[in-house]
Amino acid sequence: MVTPELIDALKNSRRVAAITGAGISAESGIPTFRDAQTGLWAKYDPMQLATPEAFLENPERVWNWYAWRRELLAACRPNKGHQALSRIARHIPEFQLITQNVDGLHQAAGSQDVIELHGNIQRTKCFDHGHTVEQWDAQQAPPPCPYCGSLLRPDVVWFGEMLPVQALQQAEQAAARCEVFLSIGTSGQVYPAADLAYQALASGAMVVEINAEPTPLTARAHYAFTGKAGDQLPRLLAEIWQESVPDA
Ligand code: OAD
Repeated sequence: MVTPELIDALKNSRRVAAITGAGISAESGIPTFRDAQTGLWAKYDPMQLATPEAFLENPERVWNWYAWRRELLAACRPNKGHQALSRIARHIPEFQLITQNVDGLHQAAGSQDVIELHGNIQRTKCFDHGHTVEQWDAQQAPPPCPYCGSLLRPDVVWFGEMLPVQALQQAEQAAARCEVFLSIGTSGQVYPAADLAYQALASGAMVVEINAEPTPLTARAHYAFTGKAGDQLPRLLAEIWQESVPDA
């Protein structure tokens, strides 16, 4: 329930941080990772597709899998959850959005200064030197880097890789400084991203979770709303700021 305490906290906070995960994009038609039937990791083995070792062993398989995911994404649009979040941000003096998603849908919904902890699937870089590349020869999978000849790969964070240092630092700072921390559509299984909510708790923030099902954070959160982000975020926007998300 949206209590007067929660309304008061969100209306009067100067600093709010939010972390999102695959759940917020599910209603746009993008599969999550860990949902039992539909999650990507229920069908595919991440160790074969999302590690540097997998890429070195079979670069073509990995490249083609990400090309397929980019194709899926091309047909997807931001949903009411993304839109409500970008509207909520406008009511808060310092709102920091942190996402684990690589789909760019927050930016497409108008969110600004989004911290992308796990990279962006639309960006491509080379394996050896991280050269950012925007065009390549589509005949080869993966194509070579035009600068150094090493193989191109998506600019996403794979298992076993470091998160972008500056992005993580900014996210940790936002979590430590915020008065309210929102955790939306993430199972909280992947660290260090999952730790941000606990850092916010330790720094005294009010923690609010929105998720389709309970997670390890639920019992620690001050408020936990079980349901779809595309319903719950517009509801918060409506109940707290009397604003609605227009129909697409
Ligand atoms: P998960 O698939 O682990 O979790 C998605 C969460 O969203 C689950 O708890 C679902 O119950 C919930 N959910 C599903 N539909 C929802 C909806 N409509 N509204 C709200 N919640 C919903 O995805 P992440 O937590 O994002 O990393 O996974 C974290 C990281 O693991 C990803 O960034 C990716 C993956 O391996 C990398 O690729 C590095």
